[in-house]
Amino acid sequence: MSIRLRSEVVGDEDAIDVVNCTAFERMEEANLVRMLRAHYPGFDRRYSVTAWEGDDIVGHTLLSPVTIRLMGENVAALMVGPVAVAPGYQRRGIGGGLLRFGHEMGQRDGFALAFLYGHPEYYPRHGYRACFGLGKVTIDKDGLPEPKRKFTRMPVCPADLPWLVERYAAEWADVDFATLWGPSLGEWTMPCLNAVMWWTEDGCRAAYTVDKPGKERCRMLLADDPELARDVIATIRPGTLSHHPSGWLVRHALDVDWAAAEAERSEAAMACELESGALDECLRAVESGERLPGFALGSLPFLAI
Ligand SMILES: CC(C)(COP(=O)(O)OP(=O)(O)OC[C@H]1O[C@@H](n2cnc3c(N)ncnc32)[C@H](O)[C@@H]1OP(=O)(O)O)[C@@H](O)C(=O)NCCC(=O)NCCS
Repeated sequence: MSIRLRSEVVGDEDAIDVVNCTAFERMEEANLVRMLRAHYPGFDRRYSVTAWEGDDIVGHTLLSPVTIRLMGENVAALMVGPVAVAPGYQRRGIGGGLLRFGHEMGQRDGFALAFLYGHPEYYPRHGYRACFGLGKVTIDKDGLPEPKRKFTRMPVCPADLPWLVERYAAEWADVDFATLWGPSLGEWTMPCLNAVMWWTEDGCRAAYTVDKPGKERCRMLLADDPELARDVIATIRPGTLSHHPSGWLVRHALDVDWAAAEAERSEAAMACELESGALDECLRAVESGERLPGFALGSLPFLAI
């Protein structure tokens, strides 16, 4: 029987869960798709691509429309993942077909590129090449000073959104592949994550932080005052920060005595041009050492995994 590819329609949700769950042999990817569908404002059903043999779902992939920074510009891109083919149907070209379906739609809609973290042996055959990586700051907790102030943690509220959007854009302005978030509360307050605003006792908004309860890593810290940012870090005392050496936080607020920032290219961090030449300038700049490899900081749903 032949394989049919089509976009998700209402009612496909449970079948999509099943194919993700059986392909990955766990629930994380199925939950991720559900979370993106429910909470990610950019979610577009057309880019949730399904493969069918008769009435059976045999494959699925999701491409999430995002705006990324590339060489200091805003670029329309598709963040790809997960990609899942049911175990009995693998190696029949279905994974490649799902990607092609998404890429062709993306080309028609004017997206410049698609990107993902995935198997370095599999995706290059579908046009992907390694071109960004990972960024990380390691904190020497013993070297951290004592915080000078006390803070109150408050939930994120709609009045914080303009500040968050502005600070986020400033933080990632010069980091290639960083995704930009919009003014929607859902993007800033995801289930399973601890996303809070930090206020000083005299009513000053000091920072926004995101971490996963119980973890040593602080996934995001946005601030506009370097001194307050340092004080919030001294209060949280994280082991690592998911930030990039070219971002605002590292350049303006961190201290070399207790913070070391790095960026490195990863073979698993790949992108595929949907618009010819979209990656040329960035690849040339990274290869010649003019720019550090970028860092695809997914929107919050991706961080929840
Ligand atoms: C990875 C996956 C989506 C590929 O789908 P598929 O329909 O089997 O892939 P295609 O038929 O288009 O391509 C098959 C080719 O890819 C290769 N391939 C499949 N999975 C691979 C992997 N994990 N690493 C390297 N190569 C892989 C196969 O060896 C095959 O090559 P061959 O025909 O030369 O032997 C599917 O195997 C799957 O769902 N795996 C479990 C979930 C997963 O790991 N998803 C990807 C996360 S990055």
